[in-house]
Amino acid sequence: MRFTFVTLFEGLVRGYFGDSILKRGVEKGLLRYDFVNPRDYAKNRHKKVDDTAAGGGAGMVMMPQPLDDALAAVRAASAGAHIVFPSPVGKPFTQKDARRLAKMEHLVFVSGRYEGIDERVIERWADELFSIGDYVLTGGELPSLVMCDAVARLVPGVLGNAESLSAESFETPLLEAPMFTRPKSFHKLSIPSEYLKGNHSKINALKKRLALAKTKYFRPDLYLKFTQRDYDEKSLY
Ligand code: ADE
Repeated sequence: MRFTFVTLFEGLVRGYFGDSILKRGVEKGLLRYDFVNPRDYAKNRHKKVDDTAAGGGAGMVMMPQPLDDALAAVRAASAGAHIVFPSPVGKPFTQKDARRLAKMEHLVFVSGRYEGIDERVIERWADELFSIGDYVLTGGELPSLVMCDAVARLVPGVLGNAESLSAESFETPLLEAPMFTRPKSFHKLSIPSEYLKGNHSKINALKKRLALAKTKYFRPDLYLKFTQRDYDEKSLY
């Protein structure tokens, strides 16, 4: 799967591919990534990419020409590219979206900076707008990486152990049950004894109860959505 980051600040994004799972995904040939800098498309003498906001107001706006030309070039070279704009006004990005996007061949993340992007560029090129939460960041690079990470780990082969996908939070309607590793006792806190006895059906039953309790406590909104029917009918673990 290919990711293109359209950004003025390549360095903010590149580092994330330098280690761990995404790095291995690239080395295995499952993921590739590249960058497009709108500044390279600026036609004005000073390679300016921002301008004052029409109608006044604080801050600068990313002007349309450089970004529009950059996106036209991306599309011309890759007709099937799916263009995503991270934006606080987008729809909330969810695991379901990550699963859907993981099936695409080429995802393009367009990072805004300054106060925002001229709306006409969004109108002309955006296939989707996503928000990663109800707060405002200084630019689209972090949200792009957040979405890229969530998508990349779902590409078959990127995670070492395929099983680790099935029971985790948001892949089921519940948050994931607590996990432990050795030692059995740590600062006088012990692992629930059932986890250590090796009876997998009992362990799974306990995990299901713990997942339910954790969801109720941390995410009452998810818990309410989770009906008794889901609990009985779906094999969660
Ligand atoms: N750009 C700035 N803040 C953002 C957010 N919360 N989600 C997506 N893109 C953003």
